[in-house]
Amino acid sequence: MRIESCGDGLVIWSPTKINLFLEIKGKRKDGYHELETVMQAIDLCDELEIQPSSDKQIHFHCDHPGVPSDTSNLVVRAANELRKLTGHTVGASMSLRKFSPVGGGIGGGSGNAAAALIGLNKIWDLGLESTNLHQVAALIGSDINFFLEEGTCLCTGRGEKVQPLPPQNPFHYVLVMPPFGVATAAVFRQISHSLNNKIEDVNILLKALENRDFSAICGSLFNRLESPAFSLNPDLGKIKSQLEALAPGRTLMSGSGSTMYVLCPNSKDAESLEKAIAELNLGRIYRTASADNLGQL
Ligand code: C5P
Repeated sequence: MRIESCGDGLVIWSPTKINLFLEIKGKRKDGYHELETVMQAIDLCDELEIQPSSDKQIHFHCDHPGVPSDTSNLVVRAANELRKLTGHTVGASMSLRKFSPVGGGIGGGSGNAAAALIGLNKIWDLGLESTNLHQVAALIGSDINFFLEEGTCLCTGRGEKVQPLPPQNPFHYVLVMPPFGVATAAVFRQISHSLNNKIEDVNILLKALENRDFSAICGSLFNRLESPAFSLNPDLGKIKSQLEALAPGRTLMSGSGSTMYVLCPNSKDAESLEKAIAELNLGRIYRTASADNLGQL
């Protein structure tokens, strides 16, 4: 994550992600699903400013009306869990500017929480190692651990077991955020009826990524959550068909939706595709690229 000093505090740009691959390997005893997913950090970032606070409170404000500012916010939960772990009692003031779409399956809130963990560890001088931050991240949600690593990662378990892959993915993305969302838990509930599917092999994508083989990567894009999300919301399936007509074989839903993305080999291709997609009026469009792991832990 890009981090800059700002007075006594910090400004952190937290990226978002898309899933290049997402398979469900089974239902777990804790009610979650066992995942195998390849996540890619993308350069569509929110800005989190963290300042020390003279009182013992955690203050949090977000400029987006759809984001809760109370203790349910993942940023506030990250701060509270860190204080619980370390016994630290000093407060902090955190202010979040959202540039990424909210609630679209691209992990904005999880990235914000990871930024809070990294930033508070620094400004509170906690000296926590990466493994400690990962422990706290896993308590708060399933995608936060990924954002402690960024780049491209193979994630398993609930999504919280993260294995970084070598940086190899210089691609661009056009994202479409439809005017409706999809409830993550509802999408996962649908999948439990169809767990007998043949399990897709992630190794084909891993090999394609290793070889930086754009057409092989496109050929192995996969998201098991697409079909349950499309059955809950048929308009989403229609959006995918329209994007497929423009860019065959390289469109996928991210996470549990509703954001769809098209993978592009370079910025020129992404630029012309963005124009063509804009004509279709499918929702908000974002053009972005892979974000590297800058190793700021
Ligand atoms: O962990 P997170 O808050 O992102 O998950 C949101 C919801 O998605 C969970 O409450 C659960 O219903 C579903 N989920 C799941 N299996 C996972 C991750 C999420 O069933 N591995």
